[in-house]
Amino acid sequence: MCEDVSILAIESSCDETAAAVVKNGREVKSNIIFSQIELHKLYGGVVPEIASRKHIEKINQVIEQALGEAHMTLREVTAIAVTYGPGLVGPLLVGVSAAKALSFATGLPLIGVHHIEGHISANYIENRDLEPPFVCLVVSGGHTHLVVVWDYGEYEIIGRTRDDAAGEAFDKVARAIGLGYPGGPKIDRLSREGDPEAIRFPRAKVEGAAYDFSFSGLKSSVLNYLNSCEMKGEGVNRADVAASFQKAVIDVLTEHALGAVRDYGLAKFAIAGGVASNSALRRAFAEECAKRGIAFYHPSPLLCTDNAAMIGAAAYYEYKKGALSGMELNAVPNLRLGER
Ligand code: KG4
Ligand code: ZN
Repeated sequence: MCEDVSILAIESSCDETAAAVVKNGREVKSNIIFSQIELHKLYGGVVPEIASRKHIEKINQVIEQALGEAHMTLREVTAIAVTYGPGLVGPLLVGVSAAKALSFATGLPLIGVHHIEGHISANYIENRDLEPPFVCLVVSGGHTHLVVVWDYGEYEIIGRTRDDAAGEAFDKVARAIGLGYPGGPKIDRLSREGDPEAIRFPRAKVEGAAYDFSFSGLKSSVLNYLNSCEMKGEGVNRADVAASFQKAVIDVLTEHALGAVRDYGLAKFAIAGGVASNSALRRAFAEECAKRGIAFYHPSPLLCTDNAAMIGAAAYYEYKKGALSGMELNAVPNLRLGER
């Protein structure tokens, strides 16, 4: 019989200090997330230096809590995993240093994990039947990637954003209509009261690249709309703006992503990343996939936004392959998917 593999995973690439224990890649024994959102709200976005300092303050605490809730000691853990990129260098360094220190002190193997690989792997946790190959749309604050997952840890990026990430567009539009940070969940909520057909914002296509995305034109179009209302002295219905903007993003994402699923002849599709927790987006993909006979997978909202359980899930498959890291592991802020 195979021995169980329990991984203590650490995530600190942006503004969440997180630690989790995951058994055999799919069973979450604990998932502790300390969100710094309240701290950064004041500034309208993540302040890297403040994030790093808070990570230092919280990292040992979340690790101890993760082990405690899993009813495990470090001795019972099989390996230590940590996000080493992409992300903010200071915040990444805090997690990487903590993981290296633990690995050095205990002799446990160390596994460096790609943050986006973690987001994709969040799908394995609640969907025990999900196995590659499948197409995954990764939509977060920093990334918008369309990826074919050919096998565990084997990725082909077939589409990406040419400018803003989807989450970034949500955050910028939210700021423009006075909703504050973080914008995504606020637009999601306000959109429920608005008409998604009220304003026709553009759906951008990238010439010659059917799976690529561009959101900067959409963002500008929303800003122009707000400006022109102000110039004319007309009031703005913020809920209609939010719903119409959100619909434009979702239309583009569904069309490009499900076009790829069709073209690649794969019958499985998954979403990942913070924007994947958007309620209208989840509904749209569920409906479209059902119509087209595609099996649709999505993590629960808590596993869409940054967490360490997803890092533990990804690390399991790296561990199985023997892809371990050494003490030279360092933070790589612009690490590319598929690169080690
Ligand atoms: O994956 P994530 O937690 O961090 C990154 O790796 O970037 O994603 C954060 C992004 C933010 O831009 C946030 O506004 C967006 O995800 N987001 C949402 C929702 N929840 C978070 N966007 C739309 N609707 C949501 N419900
Ligand atoms: Zn993320």
